Amino acid sequence: MRFPPAFLDEIRDRVPISQVIGQRVAWDRKKTNTSRGDYWACCPFHGEKSPSFHCEDKKGRYHCFGCSVSGDHFKFLTELEGLSFPEAVEKIADMAGVPMPVRDAQEERREKERASLTDVMEMATAFFQERLQGPEGAKARAYLRDRGLTPATQQSFRLGFAPDSRNALKEHLAARGVPKADIEACGLVRHGDDIPVSYDWFRDRIMFPIPDSRGKIIAFGGRALAPDALAKYMNSPDTELFHKGNVLYNFARARKALAKGGTVIAVEGYMDVIALAQAGFENAVAPLGTALTENQLELLWRMAPEPMLCFDGDKAGLKAAWRAADLALPSVQAGRSARFALLPEGKDPDDLVKAEGPEAFRAVLSEARPLVDLLWMRETSGGVFDTPERRAELEKTLRELTSRIRDESLRYHYQQEMRERVLSFFGSSRGGPQGQQGGRKDGRPGQPKAPGGQFAKGGGGRIAITESLGQSAMVKRGEAMSVREATIIVALINHPALIDENFAHVEFLDLANSDLRRLHSAILDAMAHDTADDRHAVVATVERAGCGEIWGRAVDLIKRARQWPALETAALEDARDALNQALHLQRSARTLHKELKAAEAAMDADPSDENFRHLIEIQAQFQDVQATEALIEGFGVSSGRAGRA
Ligand code: UTP
Ligand code: MN
Repeated sequence: MRFPPAFLDEIRDRVPISQVIGQRVAWDRKKTNTSRGDYWACCPFHGEKSPSFHCEDKKGRYHCFGCSVSGDHFKFLTELEGLSFPEAVEKIADMAGVPMPVRDAQEERREKERASLTDVMEMATAFFQERLQGPEGAKARAYLRDRGLTPATQQSFRLGFAPDSRNALKEHLAARGVPKADIEACGLVRHGDDIPVSYDWFRDRIMFPIPDSRGKIIAFGGRALAPDALAKYMNSPDTELFHKGNVLYNFARARKALAKGGTVIAVEGYMDVIALAQAGFENAVAPLGTALTENQLELLWRMAPEPMLCFDGDKAGLKAAWRAADLALPSVQAGRSARFALLPEGKDPDDLVKAEGPEAFRAVLSEARPLVDLLWMRETSGGVFDTPERRAELEKTLRELTSRIRDESLRYHYQQEMRERVLSFFGSSRGGPQGQQGGRKDGRPGQPKAPGGQFAKGGGGRIAITESLGQSAMVKRGEAMSVREATIIVALINHPALIDENFAHVEFLDLANSDLRRLHSAILDAMAHDTADDRHAVVATVERAGCGEIWGRAVDLIKRARQWPALETAALEDARDALNQALHLQRSARTLHKELKAAEAAMDADPSDENFRHLIEIQAQFQDVQATEALIEGFGVSSGRAGRA
């Protein structure tokens, strides 16, 4: 008996593998990290005393580094518990709360039917492709050329043309023996009780074949050539093969491209996906004319932990982004989040790469904000929080929002983050309320909007706290000022004795933030002029370099992050400790990030045990550094130090 692969995938995806295995083994408390879905135990397949059996919920696989067994849910049950495969499937389906498919003759027939339907779709695809090259296709070819799609791109996406005829496709298929019922079941004609003679669904349109995850064509999108057509784009209707909300355009190719690294980019339209592919971004996908659905989000997460969602920079785009954020929120957890990129107003990715090249799009991606920023921005933008009542209201809204996160650990961190943001936004209770008009904490005058008013960077305090989530602090380059980097620079300038002591490190500092790099240059400058042993002289060099404002911001950030040891008033020993710690983290972060990328690439190229083990190890170290850093950035270490400073 064969089970539909989609069914097996579904139940496997619904049941964490740790739940299946956890019924037979006791997890090792030390090595296991439940919030990451990362479990270790003594191997149940071979006796052992120290745990080398590992399973990971995200991957849905287990592996023993001792005896090399590995597999998924079903294999575990068949090999360890001796169930037959159908019994194993039944057990997992039961745990998943999904009913078993009815495996009767009718079901078997439907499966065959589906296979024959994909054959029909393939014939239709070839038909449209041929028509594009034929005489009727001239106009369509000119159109595609005008839109800048090369013949190679058209070929690789198998673009086609549906002629302006009510029966060209229908007759083509009928002449090749395709039964009327199949043509109808494929959604290639309009038919029904009120339609005496069925007719072609797509007419006078550029055709975009839509492949499933294995590359088989299951539907079409069609773009009208006539500017006055009723609908600019039309999709196939839902059929046995195609359920609009479960499919992402370009899924299969994008997944393949991801092997080379990067994350998946979700954009709005077919043309965007294709134009991006031509511009070198082969990892883009699009929903099919609807807002992103939950299933599509799941697909994105199957491709990458932090998909990049791209939206128009106008009001509608922002709304769509918020809807996507709401959709994602309940399901986010470590390794399952999203970033949001907003395009310049009125431009889609296709327009952008065409007008300004791939660099412009890359810049948009690099400006992408994490989910937490998007939510904060929505709740605060345009708001006035001038009374305790209004601030309480904001806090309530934020609490309600974060309470939707199902993952306990992440929910806790979001709540903490939001509290911190509110605090840094309104000032500490001791300092009295600041920015009462919903103004930015960074106090720039004449800015009545709340901090999230635009999709812009700024408000160092906010960003510092974002980084305390430990999500992306180290992977960013040319990005916001991090507390770690600010600590290094501020400590050096305030305590120039440390410059000399750490000469070798100071000279070759690798900083991600460009403003801090300028301060760094000023320090080097002071060193070159032998004035680096006197704080006033170093600060003067900074001012002369036109970096006074940056210096002010860096110090502000340090204060908000409660990194007192880096300040002028701290004792030299404390400053030295803080500097050493930050330097150490900086080096580990940089090195580990590079190593992690390399380990991921190695694992992709060759998924051997050896590479797997290495990757796991690096990931663990990476997490450790992030955890330490999160502590330093405001919640633990630094407040402890504040007592001593
Ligand atoms: P857009 O209107 O943004 O079009 O629709 P586009 O992708 O930029 O297309 P071009 O550049 O004008 O050719 C985005 C997506 O919304 C769906 C389609 O999936 C399209 O790719 N859509 C749009 C429809 O389903 N129906 C429509 O009438 C319009
Ligand atoms: Mn467009």
